[in-house]
Amino acid sequence: MSKIIDGKKIAQNIRMELKDEIKNLKKDGRVPGLTVVMVGNNPASETYVSMKEKAAEEIGINSRLIKKDEDISEKELLDLIDELNNDPAVDGILVQLPLPEHIDEKKVIESIVPDKDVDGFHPINTGRLFSGQEDSLRYEACTPLGIIRMLEREGIEIDGKNATIVGRSNIVGKPIAHLLLERHATVTICHSHTKDLKAETKRADIVVAAVGRAEMITGDMIKEGAVVIDVGINRIDGELLGDVEFESAKEVASRITPVPGGVGPMTIAMLMENTVKARKYHGV
Ligand SMILES: NC(=O)c1ccc[n+]([C@@H]2O[C@H](COP(=O)([O-])OP(=O)(O)OC[C@H]3O[C@@H](n4cnc5c(N)ncnc54)[C@H](OP(=O)(O)O)[C@@H]3O)[C@@H](O)[C@H]2O)c1
Repeated sequence: MSKIIDGKKIAQNIRMELKDEIKNLKKDGRVPGLTVVMVGNNPASETYVSMKEKAAEEIGINSRLIKKDEDISEKELLDLIDELNNDPAVDGILVQLPLPEHIDEKKVIESIVPDKDVDGFHPINTGRLFSGQEDSLRYEACTPLGIIRMLEREGIEIDGKNATIVGRSNIVGKPIAHLLLERHATVTICHSHTKDLKAETKRADIVVAAVGRAEMITGDMIKEGAVVIDVGINRIDGELLGDVEFESAKEVASRITPVPGGVGPMTIAMLMENTVKARKYHGV
């Protein structure tokens, strides 16, 4: 078993499984539909959106990109979402963030009907996660869900383990904390006010780094044999670096994700998984 967790390969396997599932859904009458709404032309967003589109097309999802100019009004955007909410061919709606400053992101996210919120950011979906409602339809945010799938597929035990998460954002830190808690880990969440970060990471069996600071988690902060999941994407002098100093951390970790090729591809695969889930929920 490799020490390096190959997120690219795991994500590809998942996408191929979804492709088979979509073939069956097609026989049933309809393939899943995903609509991505992008406002403006932020280069990073353009890259993410084209990766999402490519992945969707490859597995047979009917994906559509709606591009709007930077100066679209909030009302126009909300009207568009309303249209998509009512379109039976659309199973999943994703509004690529960030939005221009004159548009209230929170309002836009809340305008998506929760059963089409394949990004898992709507408060109904986060609320269902945070209150442990597994029985109702619930979409989990793609990056944290991708981390869980990765741990599952690698056979890494979560139950009873100490997990330390560095970062408490709504899109990564908080939801991964809840997903790990639901699987019976003992969870510690660290942030910029944490007094002794090293003490917190050093006692963890699973460390999740989601900070956005290149290589801040170093090998001496990791317990021998721990599993290290690096969510960070930092572009430094044209190079892509994680939040973990890979070279020193890999000496002590039992398993570690690389950047790139770790969590990133899993995030996109989970968007596909959520879209298939949405199609199954909506029916033909
Ligand atoms: N691979 C993927 O698909 C994917 C997806 C999403 C994000 N990312 C990447 O993951 C990273 C984090 O993203 P995010 O959206 O969660 O970031 P974010 O919203 O900026 O949150 C960063 C978190 O790190 C904490 N923090 C900052 N400095 C710290 C320090 N010195 N010690 C401890 N905690 C500290 C902050 O604490 P406070 O709350 O106290 O400010 C905050 O909670 C970024 O590099 C982002 O690009 C990758």
